[in-house]
Parts: sequence; C-alpha cells; structure tokens
Amino acid sequence: MQTTAETTEKKLKIIVDKIHNLPTPPIVFTQITKVINNPDTSAYEIGGIIAEDPALTAKVLKLTNSSFYGIPRTITNVKQAIVILGLDAIKSLVISASVFDAFSKNKALDTEYLENFWRHSLSVAFMAKIISRFRKTSNLQEAEIAFSGGLLHDIGKLILISHLPDEYLKIKALQEKESSMSEIDIESSVLQFNHAHLGSYMAGKWNLPEEICDAIMNHHSKKALPNGILAAVIHLADYLAHKNELYDGKKIERKNPFYESVWTTLGMDISSTDQMLEMLRSEYAKAETFLKMAQGMS
Ligand SMILES: [Fe+2]
Ligand SMILES: [Fe+2]
Repeated sequence: MQTTAETTEKKLKIIVDKIHNLPTPPIVFTQITKVINNPDTSAYEIGGIIAEDPALTAKVLKLTNSSFYGIPRTITNVKQAIVILGLDAIKSLVISASVFDAFSKNKALDTEYLENFWRHSLSVAFMAKIISRFRKTSNLQEAEIAFSGGLLHDIGKLILISHLPDEYLKIKALQEKESSMSEIDIESSVLQFNHAHLGSYMAGKWNLPEEICDAIMNHHSKKALPNGILAAVIHLADYLAHKNELYDGKKIERKNPFYESVWTTLGMDISSTDQMLEMLRSEYAKAETFLKMAQGMS
C-alpha cells in the first residue's frame, strides 16, 4: 500500500511534469553548485567561474557593495568579495541573484504581489540568519544556508501562480470562501500538495543542497520539525517575520499553523523574540538593494 507521502509525491510529479518552462538557473550557477561542495575547490576557482557570467557578477557585486554589508570600500571583483565576506556568504548571494533573475522576468506575476512576496521572503531570510546566530551550536555556514532556505521557502507560490493558473484561481476562490482554513490546507484540497512541495521540487531541479530542499518541503510540517533543524529555523523565522510585517500599514495575518515545539527543537526560548525582532528591523532597513533586484528593478 502507498503511504500518503508517496501519493503526494506521485500527484506532484504528474502535475510538475506538465510544467515545461520551469525557471532555470544560469549556466554558471549549475557549474558552481557542482564544485562548491568540494572542499578542495579554492575561492580563486569559484571567483573565476562566477566571473564568466558578467551579468551575475555585476549582481553579486551590487549586493556585496550594498549597505546591508556596510563594507567601507567598493569591492570590484568577486575574488575580493570572497576574501572579505567568505565563500559561504558569496554562495548565498549567487543563489539570491540567480533566483531574483529567474523570477523577475516572469510577466505572469503581478508587481504588487511580487513586492509583498519578496518583502516577506527577505524578512524570513534575514530572520533565519538571525536565529542561526542565536543558536549556540550554529556556525557561519549554517547561517548562510538558513539565509538561502529562508529566501526560497515560499518560492512554490510563484510557480503555482505562474505555471498552474487554473489551480491558483480555484485556491484563491476557496480562500475567500473559507476564511478559517489554513493556506496549506486550501492548497492541498485543490492540488493534493502545497507550495512547500512545489518549491522543494524546484530547488531539487536547481541542484540546491538537499538540506535546503528538505527545509522548503517541511517548513509548514509539524512532523518534520524535530528531525530537520533548518526546517525548524525557517518555520520559526516565517512566524516571527509575519509578526513583524506591515504592508502599507495593514498587518497581514498569518494563515498557517505555528508549532510552539520549534523553540525546544532549536534549543531556544521565547524570551529572545524581542531582541531578534529588533535585529530584523535594523537589518531589513538596509535591504533596499536586495528588494530592488528581486523585483527586477536593478
Ligand atoms: Fe510557506
Ligand atoms: Fe512564508
């Protein structure tokens, strides 16, 4: 007999097999993901690979020189950027720039929706990094993976809107009718899977680290929380980012369940909330370059 997970997987595969023009990463991105996890690859080699794509290089440098990092002098090449920010930070900037590029070209996505979407995704990315810094067992590499996972956690929603428009309309109609149902339950009732499955599928196609694919898959799942630290980091980051979000002065209510057990999973407690939210506000204020690039404005 098939398990529920197998049935979901099968249905997801049937639908996504029909999606032929799923956004693809730049060629250089694929080359980097092949060598990036090899400990023998030097910063010099990675810098050389990125430099082969001038558009990607320009974006990575723009993010490196943004006020977010506060580097006192202008960085003019990727090798220099790797020396100053570290290879892990550059990896997450390459992922960010590639994802922004792939999705900002999509005309099916409404500008206002896209702006709110990226504001939320960036908040979750920053918050995931802050949570990682608060965890005693964490390290720099984990913090950067958390950033990428946070940035991509809801990417399945963009695929849903742009590639499954009929299903998206059904979901929207049901959302208006069923105000008490969670977002993921509504998606599952229409599709038999939700945006987390869809996003994880795309992350897999992009050959992103398995840890990131798993975290995207499980960021709303109660069962997965004790097993996947990154999923737990993103689950908490999503909750805290929603707490902090004010779009045009009106609060967006969180529509998915929050599992308190995540605090224990991460070895943290609720008392750090205010301090983390304060850090998010100050980092977010420096995120303008990220946001503009995500919207295809730079
Ligand atoms: Fe989500
Ligand atoms: Fe989210």
